[in-house]
Amino acid sequence: MVTKDYYSLNEVSEILGKSKETLRRWDREGKFVAVREPISDYRIYKKEQVDFLLKQLSIDYEDTVNNYIKPIKDYKVIELFAGAGGLAVGLEKAGIKCVALNEIDKWACQTLRENRPNWNILEGDIKSYDFKEYKNQVEIITGGFPCQAFSYAGKKLGLQDARGTLFYEFARAVKEVNPLICIGENVKGLLSHDKGKTIEGMISILDEIGYNITPVKVLKAINYKVPQKRERVILVGIRKDINLRYEYPKPHNKIYNLIDALKKGELYDCDVPKSEGSKYPKHKKEVLELVPQKGYWRNLPLDIQKEYMGKSFYLGGGKTGIARRIGWDEPSLTLTCSPAQKQTERCHPEETRPFTVREYARIQTFPDDWKFMGSISQQYKQIGNAVPCNLGTEIGYSIIKFLNQYYLSLSKPE
Ligand SMILES: C[S@@+](CC[C@H](N)C(=O)[O-])C[C@H]1O[C@@H](n2cnc3c(N)ncnc32)[C@H](O)[C@@H]1O
Repeated sequence: MVTKDYYSLNEVSEILGKSKETLRRWDREGKFVAVREPISDYRIYKKEQVDFLLKQLSIDYEDTVNNYIKPIKDYKVIELFAGAGGLAVGLEKAGIKCVALNEIDKWACQTLRENRPNWNILEGDIKSYDFKEYKNQVEIITGGFPCQAFSYAGKKLGLQDARGTLFYEFARAVKEVNPLICIGENVKGLLSHDKGKTIEGMISILDEIGYNITPVKVLKAINYKVPQKRERVILVGIRKDINLRYEYPKPHNKIYNLIDALKKGELYDCDVPKSEGSKYPKHKKEVLELVPQKGYWRNLPLDIQKEYMGKSFYLGGGKTGIARRIGWDEPSLTLTCSPAQKQTERCHPEETRPFTVREYARIQTFPDDWKFMGSISQQYKQIGNAVPCNLGTEIGYSIIKFLNQYYLSLSKPE
């Protein structure tokens, strides 16, 4: 009986960004009551009921949270795996100086050079760089190393066991530079990667090279002035001689929606500039024409659902990202590296097309004057890979807060 008028528990969990456990509790407590599917007795939710709650959750709150803090010193960062500079731009906006950025992709490096001719771009494989010249010269190292499994048998993983992985290179740079704080950024999947062994291994390596790890946290970009439901794991290492706690940036209570990204408002002082963008192939366009704002494949006629979804139609699960048209009054779903990719469509709310390059950049909160180099697909890839700039700024404030406390504690008499 689950028709397009109802959502499953899984789907509601994805749409509202609330865990299934929370939804079950809300149901038990009568806060957000589900109905039961007659045969399976599973919880299902009426579409209107979900839409209403989604609106309530994104009501215009007066934002009472402010993480801004002024640095009491000039703080410097080395940004590894810098991509097109999402995190670097964010950190710079917070007031942190980028003294070196490493990146292997030539188009991403061109983007960085085009926008910041004065930045020191170390182009090429991180393996070929030695960071010893920066020893004790910078306070911070950051890096979104691509996630790879370690092959190790049981015991605690040491730095040498991780050789050949990009995390090894990140840790090597940290060891060579000896910063006060290091921050690794990654997709949420890192936590479950290789049944949790990958993250465990990373923590034990950072411990071995002299860093205590702050309990790992998933940051939701929507809580940090980003109109996109993107989640990132942050791994924060504090040098062991420092006896201070790092605190994650406080989540804001104001949520921004797609309209805030693309239209003049609080995030931008004009509508999104026109730019190039990719198009959907003819058939995909015909299918997406049938999907309303905030709708997805379940809103299609049944025969088209079956044809469009192929085998996945029978596999179950919400798959709310497939054939999805984003609504003006909701945050975008996570942008990927390619906007017309099968199974991750994020269609424009009114026109049947993917977001343009500048729309993509705005959803990732890049400034409008940040240019991207290379073909359109290279540009989408750089933007889709980035840490949203506003999230980077908020992480930057949290680093500044920590470093300010550290330097103030040094100047205090015992
Ligand atoms: C997730 S992206 C980083 C995004 C970036 N932090 C931002 O906010 O825009 C990871 C980057 O690592 C780069 N990369 C992958 N292997 C590398 C290597 N061996 N040396 C240097 N960079 C590498 C990729 O080209 C990619 O741009």
